[in-house]
Amino acid sequence: MKYVENKVVLIGSGAVGVAYAYAVVNQGSCDELVLIDLNVTKSRADVLDLNHCEAWAPEPVSVSFGDYDDCRDAAMVVICAGVAQRPGQTRLDMVGTNMKIFKDIVDQVMASGFDGIFLVATNPVDILSYATWRYSGLPSSQVIGSGTTLDTARLRFHLGQFFEVATTNVHATIIGEHGDSELPVWSAASVAGRSIAKRVAAHPELRQELDEIFRKTRDAAYEIIEAKGSTSYGIGMALARITRAVLSNQKVTLPVSALLEGQYGHEGLYIGVPTSIGRRGVRGIVELDLDEEEQAAFDRSVATLKEVQDPFWA
Ligand code: LAC
Repeated sequence: MKYVENKVVLIGSGAVGVAYAYAVVNQGSCDELVLIDLNVTKSRADVLDLNHCEAWAPEPVSVSFGDYDDCRDAAMVVICAGVAQRPGQTRLDMVGTNMKIFKDIVDQVMASGFDGIFLVATNPVDILSYATWRYSGLPSSQVIGSGTTLDTARLRFHLGQFFEVATTNVHATIIGEHGDSELPVWSAASVAGRSIAKRVAAHPELRQELDEIFRKTRDAAYEIIEAKGSTSYGIGMALARITRAVLSNQKVTLPVSALLEGQYGHEGLYIGVPTSIGRRGVRGIVELDLDEEEQAAFDRSVATLKEVQDPFWA
């Protein structure tokens, strides 16, 4: 399949979708960005507004409003469409409505002859990434979910603030469900080259601080949604980061939602795990050496997702 070089189709230009679109335009990550949305009037206005960025953007990104035929030669289709989490809801609460929406979306994308990379953001993202893989019939490597890439960014920010180092000097990862059962992998975390596990061993009182940092990370979305109705910038940047990894064939490891086929002792679900990402999507999953506590928490996260997912495929 010949691709139009670096063409991305965005399905769903709500708060998350337009934040992603602006990040991509601002970074000049692709040559062409096509928006598809049910609200044609607003989406066409978003296109106009985004094209007014071009004069000052690092690289020109041609933004247009389109339809599912535009997916045929797209390198990526990014799905942000669906009902969003409201105050008091968990991400898993949206599964029924969004599963129905996704069957229609993926069928229309595949009818175009699409053979690129799906990037799913709609929640519950792990379950909808699995559904996208099943509905599309594509190899699992061509279906990626945003996973815990945003959660990892939140964790790194809070750790950077606490240890007073640049976020880029923080190497720490959240894995598992993009949701309440996610977990930090403290055993593999370091700040400016110093192992966090060793620092906790030397200063046990640190553990309480780290637990509070993880709570702030895990619950961040609830606080933001309560205050402004939805999150947008953080997830938009996370999606833009994954987009750069794919389109530039970066072979970088990011904690996206990927299909487990035995890794970490599990199979048959998408879940946030460190994954090498390149032009053709998933290159491989990195199996961290989880300690007993982390493996048990990961097993619980798998069980949480499967409990919700399995009835849809029984
Ligand atoms: C959040 C949404 C994207 O965590 O689930 O902000």
